[in-house]
Amino acid sequence: MPMPQNGVETSVDSSRPISVMINGMACEFSDVRPDTTLLQFLRLQQGLCGTKEGCAEGDCGACTVVLGKERGGQIFYQPVNACITLFPMVDKAIIRTVEGVAREDGALHPVQQALVEHHGSQCGFCTPGFVMSLFAGWLNGHSLTGAELDDLLSGNLCRCTGYGPIVRAAESLAHHSLQPWENERISNEKRFLENCKSLPALSYDVGGYFYTAPDSIDGVSMAYLTQPDAQIVAGATDIGVWINKQNKKISKFISIQDVSDLSKVTESDDGIFIGASTTHQEAAKRLSVCFADMGELWRRFGSVQVRSNGTVGGNIANGSPIGDLAPALIALNTRLHLLCGKEKRQVDLENFFITYGKQDRQAAEWIVGLFVPRLSEGWHFNCHKLSRRFDQDISSVMGAFALQIGNGFIQDARVAFGGMASIPKRATYLENELIGQPLRPKKVDEDWIDNALQTDFNPLTDVRASNTYRLLAARNLLQKCRLELATGVPIRFTENEPVH
Ligand code: FES
Ligand code: FES
Repeated sequence: MPMPQNGVETSVDSSRPISVMINGMACEFSDVRPDTTLLQFLRLQQGLCGTKEGCAEGDCGACTVVLGKERGGQIFYQPVNACITLFPMVDKAIIRTVEGVAREDGALHPVQQALVEHHGSQCGFCTPGFVMSLFAGWLNGHSLTGAELDDLLSGNLCRCTGYGPIVRAAESLAHHSLQPWENERISNEKRFLENCKSLPALSYDVGGYFYTAPDSIDGVSMAYLTQPDAQIVAGATDIGVWINKQNKKISKFISIQDVSDLSKVTESDDGIFIGASTTHQEAAKRLSVCFADMGELWRRFGSVQVRSNGTVGGNIANGSPIGDLAPALIALNTRLHLLCGKEKRQVDLENFFITYGKQDRQAAEWIVGLFVPRLSEGWHFNCHKLSRRFDQDISSVMGAFALQIGNGFIQDARVAFGGMASIPKRATYLENELIGQPLRPKKVDEDWIDNALQTDFNPLTDVRASNTYRLLAARNLLQKCRLELATGVPIRFTENEPVH
């Protein structure tokens, strides 16, 4: 069926339309090119211009909308950045934009009313994004106070009101409960999601732009084998940026988000298997139970919006410099599980990164998941991220340390750094030097640590940090780790908090 796309007649071929509920209205679409972002779709095709574009790369939160998906019989509402979400990713989901927050008779939602009463808006450009982040917190029953509130708002930038009034507005909503009219909306959304369960897998082509979302691991593998030039997509938090900022033209997508097995975290006595499409939010919840520092690291990984959609597998597959997961997972001796057609392969994560932007992945081979082994007796894990800004920043140096300790001495070590080389990398020379050293650091250690680090690394000087700074910071992060483990006293800007 020919459909107009940007004023041009375009052919459409689809297994079924994309089904989405937008602000309470169930809709179907067959003619939206899969590289269209959700923000473009909402503003340009639906006229829902309350959602704003600021940075177009997932940093400012002006484009925040609420995405609702079914999880365990309940709807889980999450704030996401519409600017880096691809439209077909909202198939079988609920979307609420700022136009769909107030009551039907036009009365403001309590979140909006609180921002008015506390003077939480000046120019107003950021305000829809703040409304939507707070609204997601409201729907999910967050406390809207303290560290939980800080995290919820860490992905929303305001440059003129200042955060005081916005935070006071949010705090005035603490310990709220949903309004009766909201429950009716939620029931309507639940019915929609229930009906979506019987829909067949989505596969469509608009004017030569192809998107398929198989619902099984075999389906993904076979689709990739027949289209090895396609882009595997899960959360699109990297891919959205490539499209918006690098003007990258991608015309074939294979989505893994409808394969339920890939979003699971499975625990065994030996370790934890993280399916490739597990979001950072979900992985953080599960891994921080075993490795407390992983929770703190993930809290400083992008924003709630990015962690809601972005996936662990995508971060590793793309060799993303953002987020600092790789050094931590390397120190924990993580293994990647890859699949090419029916051929399985495992590779140690430390060997996966070859050079910047190049990973050990063959044509049509994709990451199914990661296995993180549990720490054996006597091993301790500790990691530190050092960045110029606490939230939403790429680290200058990130150090991850797994140390085996006995009788106050280091018996074995796995140490990895980010920001010290073009790829996340183990400090093998330093590891050898550490063996046999007392755990408690001493001033006299500094020389041999510096020598070891200079043998392992020759970091670059760039806008984030100089070569000298990085080497010094790496040494100090190691000493900090030793002191924390020796004394049991955390030396942090903030203590470990739960990740949201
Ligand atoms: Fe800035 Fe989307 S426009 S995060
Ligand atoms: Fe102007 Fe926030 S009110 S940027």
